[in-house]
Amino acid sequence: MPEPHFACPRCDSPLADIHCDACKLQFPTLDGLPCLFADPDATLGEWRNRWQLALAELEQNAEEAARALQACSDSSSTARRLQHLSSAYAEQRRLLEDLLAPLGPLEAVAKETYLALRTRLPTHQGLMSYAPNVHRDWCWGKVENQASVDAIRDIVGPRSSTKVLVLGAGAGRLAYDVHQLLEPELTVALDINPMLVLLNARMARGDTVAFFEFPLAPKTVEDCAIKRFLAAPAPAREGFRCVLADGLRPPFVDEQFDLVLTPWLLDVVDADTRQMLAHINRLLVAGGHWVNHGSVAFRRPNVEDCLTLEELTELTDANGFTTVATNEHDGPYLASPASRHARRELVSTAMAEKTGTVGKPARHQNLPEWLVTARAPIPLSPAFQSQITATQVHGFIMSLIDGKRSIRDVASVMEKERLMPARDAEAAIRGFLIKMFEESQAATRNL
Ligand SMILES: C[S@@+](CC[C@H](N)C(=O)[O-])C[C@H]1O[C@@H](n2cnc3c(N)ncnc32)[C@H](O)[C@@H]1O
Repeated sequence: MPEPHFACPRCDSPLADIHCDACKLQFPTLDGLPCLFADPDATLGEWRNRWQLALAELEQNAEEAARALQACSDSSSTARRLQHLSSAYAEQRRLLEDLLAPLGPLEAVAKETYLALRTRLPTHQGLMSYAPNVHRDWCWGKVENQASVDAIRDIVGPRSSTKVLVLGAGAGRLAYDVHQLLEPELTVALDINPMLVLLNARMARGDTVAFFEFPLAPKTVEDCAIKRFLAAPAPAREGFRCVLADGLRPPFVDEQFDLVLTPWLLDVVDADTRQMLAHINRLLVAGGHWVNHGSVAFRRPNVEDCLTLEELTELTDANGFTTVATNEHDGPYLASPASRHARRELVSTAMAEKTGTVGKPARHQNLPEWLVTARAPIPLSPAFQSQITATQVHGFIMSLIDGKRSIRDVASVMEKERLMPARDAEAAIRGFLIKMFEESQAATRNL
């Protein structure tokens, strides 16, 4: 049975038993799954923070619902909903605690500390960002899951694959279906999110996991929190492996997979698409295939990077590939039976053959070394200098919030302290507090 040949995500040397001789680093495992981040302790620490924060938020949600319930007339539907939500949040807290227990013991730290030290993992990739996908994959998503695997089967055709890599596999249903259907000897399902990877591994093992779904637009009071039982139709065939790693630094030796899949990934990652193509290209054997499947919704800071499908195909063909087949299907996306809200997507599937090699991709730098290693001095750059002053002013404004002062009162303190004339201070303080207010709301949504 072939195994993946791992390479160090820091220095690219081949690993022996997930140990890098060159970096003298033994990479950790999580519930037996390789955890191959360039700085595994730091990244796992960041995920632990997000987990802690998610648990604290669930506890707070449960308390808020219970508090609101006390002010409600017993017989109303609202009372029924609040009662239901309060116990669902409390139980989901326990379920999430169990699911992520392999991340290690939790320490009692104030929620605000975690908020203040928010992680620099991609901020829009929260622990729970893809919770609806989990329920689609392993509970109610038969139609959507089937449409995805049909699209892959149609495009791959009778061609056989021995070693398959799925980058951004998420909760893993498509990787599992491909593994069962195409019968490769090895399928590696990689994702950056430990909740999804741990769940994927448990599904592949044949476990049943209870987890609540909180639909965006519940159809009924009971639908606002539904306890789902997640399970695969059968344990995965031999050769299914889950890996926790960053797809922007895929930890594999070159030229070992004959099929690489990127389902719903390319347009969500914070990476230059050319670099992603270079990574995929180097991972494939000559003549191997890359199948890109999902939306084409690039929302990037630079307008030139917001690619349409035509541009993506052009870029693919200019970077060591030849596009050999494409198809599109129109269908529901995350259409929970308990929600009034769902998306429709025109889903694109494209297969490209590796017909050339491209230069080694530049190493993806999420953060400068002083932030990663925590040992080098923090540079006192001019940008930091002005941020220090701004932060002191912000800290001063926040310290004036006492539940009594208005924006106007705070503005007059600022004037007295000669920090700003009151007439400018009022607008500036309002702008700053709008940002704080919105961030406090987004912090809850982005868990
Ligand atoms: C839109 S979801 C798609 C998930 C899955 N492929 C599916 O079809 O349901 C995007 C996935 O990419 C993962 N992801 C985002 N950035 C990543 C990265 N740098 N490396 C690996 N996975 C990443 C997310 O955790 C998430 O599971």
